[in-house]
Amino acid sequence: MSIFDKLETATQDATKEKRWEGTFREYLELVREKKYPNLGVLSHQRAYQMIANAGTKKSDYFGQERTRYDFFEDKLFGIEYSIDEIMAYISSAAQRTETSRRMLLLWGPPSSGKSDMVNLLKRGLEAWSRTDAGAVFAIKGSKMHENPLLLIPHHLRDEFSEELGVHIEGSLCPHTQWLLDHKYNGDFMSVPIQRIYLSEIYRIGVGTWLPSDTKSQDISELVGSIDYAKIQEFGDEADPRVYNFDGELFVANRGVMEFIEGLKADEKFLRACLTATQEKLVKAPRFGQVYVDDFIIMHTNEEEFTDFMKEKKYEAYHDRMYIVKVPYNMSVGNEVGIYEKLLRGTDAVQIHIAPLTLKAAAMFAVLSRLEDEDGDLNLIQKMKLYDGQHVKGYKKEQVIDIKKRHPREGLSGCSPRFVIDQISAAISKAKEEGRDFITALDVLRSLNTGVVNRDAFSAEQKSAYEQFIDDARKEWNDLLRNDIQKAFFLEFEQEAKALCENYLDQIEAACANKKPRDPVTGEETELDEKLMDDIERQIGISDSGKVDFRNEILRAVGEVARRNERMENPEDRIKFDYTQHAQLREGIQKALFEERKGVIRMTVSTRNPDPEGVKRLNDVIKRMSDQQGYSPAAANELLKYASAHLFDK
Ligand SMILES: Nc1ncnc2c1ncn2[C@@H]1O[C@H](COP(=O)(O)OP(=O)(O)O)[C@@H](O)[C@H]1O
Ligand SMILES: [Mg+2]
Repeated sequence: MSIFDKLETATQDATKEKRWEGTFREYLELVREKKYPNLGVLSHQRAYQMIANAGTKKSDYFGQERTRYDFFEDKLFGIEYSIDEIMAYISSAAQRTETSRRMLLLWGPPSSGKSDMVNLLKRGLEAWSRTDAGAVFAIKGSKMHENPLLLIPHHLRDEFSEELGVHIEGSLCPHTQWLLDHKYNGDFMSVPIQRIYLSEIYRIGVGTWLPSDTKSQDISELVGSIDYAKIQEFGDEADPRVYNFDGELFVANRGVMEFIEGLKADEKFLRACLTATQEKLVKAPRFGQVYVDDFIIMHTNEEEFTDFMKEKKYEAYHDRMYIVKVPYNMSVGNEVGIYEKLLRGTDAVQIHIAPLTLKAAAMFAVLSRLEDEDGDLNLIQKMKLYDGQHVKGYKKEQVIDIKKRHPREGLSGCSPRFVIDQISAAISKAKEEGRDFITALDVLRSLNTGVVNRDAFSAEQKSAYEQFIDDARKEWNDLLRNDIQKAFFLEFEQEAKALCENYLDQIEAACANKKPRDPVTGEETELDEKLMDDIERQIGISDSGKVDFRNEILRAVGEVARRNERMENPEDRIKFDYTQHAQLREGIQKALFEERKGVIRMTVSTRNPDPEGVKRLNDVIKRMSDQQGYSPAAANELLKYASAHLFDK
């Protein structure tokens, strides 16, 4: 189908879209039939069901089992701890515990993903309300799209709930009560009901409130107001029809309200929101209290949050909130995910971003957010550890404790936004210069310019950040060197795997005090001490440590074998290879590179290579582009850089 045909179909579908409408009597049939399974749910439960419905996976978080919610996958990166806290809040509130009467408050440094999180929930609820499982119905004509079940008289509610298994709480607002009494003569069974779709633009179930000028901003933005023109029409200012239930707290009924920078606002706004959460009531001036079912999420930056926590007069508010810290992401891999997400859909995709470019920027960003360790773990090692890499002398399980010791980590440093701005600047510059690629060199240079020119950074920060740029560059040098070395092999992976197999045969025999057998002839052969030594030497395994190391590797092999036995599906079985053990991987790679060191160094750093050298270089460029994703032009430039800086002559 062409895009034009698709547009035709879409417009026809849109005009045909007919929402369910019927009387309350007919609606009760829907409830009885359970065609829409979740009709009685309150706002927190709705949010929980939406997230749970997207699916979950068990995953490993530094050695601990963690439930990963697919809803946030590919959207929020690396703030697992905050997501877990938010989910603990939502799932507890979904069960209508006391938690549902506390307001969710997210705080953290600028651009840590707080707005993004709230937006995901808002957009998610809009889409969810269009599904059968997430269907929402409301009393037609109710300005705050109230739950139809509120029409059920209080004295029959318990029995109804018990029989149908749906929860009912709250009372009709004065306006709807007026409609029921006067327009429908109390005949609640005949009140019209309709299906609604939550929608921020139509102001249905999704609200946003942003403080503006604190002095002049009126509370009516939250709680609605009297419409004076209607007093004329209805003749009485106590007539519920004259009140506009259009404040955000009413708009958000049955859904979410985002309370942006809530602590910047005057206290009365905060109080109204807290009452709406805790009592589930909103006081409409000159009218009674109105029941609302709002899931309010406030977010704020650290400065306001700290003041708020210090302020005596707010003490009583503290335990009416559920406070979640949202720091910057601290893992390099996830930081790259953030940049990729932000670059997707921009013109940046027209340019080739060489592999490891975003990683170099991400390393800088994470370094700027880390706190120094008291022990001997340096910042670079810490960065790697947080990224799930192997660091000698540390176990991944320790990460959780290290993070606990640094509660302020991730609350300062460079934001993803700052970095992405500098990446964008590097891209524009390359375009201006007529280049169709950028490398880490462009980005690190651009970061450096950004740091130097940014007035908001203190002199100390500037010099620290410049150092981190330098550190990131050194790390990137290593990674680039590795890529280039690999590209010197026609079949690097195969060779590495073969060497690993060979090594495993040798250490298995050595540890069992046996002689290895030739894999082809089956005959006993001598132990190849040199082969083992070539690998172990590369990673600093001493003579006295080699037995331990070899046993550790054999245990890892055994673990994979045992894991495979548990897998019913043969496709889930994996073969142990050198990539599954960080140290072994390093040893194998380095041993292979060592063998060809001479050729690599000569080819890369010869100024005027002979025809054979030229051919070898071209092969390397071709493999960098075929196997590693560099564009030929980027590979060429990086080889030039490498020849000058990375391979000693
Ligand atoms: N951990 C993260 N995961 C995904 N995106 C993030 C993350 N942190 C920041 N971002 C992105 O950076 C930008 C700024 O984040 P935003 O949500 O506006 O920050 P905040 O509201 O905390 O100031 C957004 O485009 C957001 O998508
Ligand atoms: Mg924000």
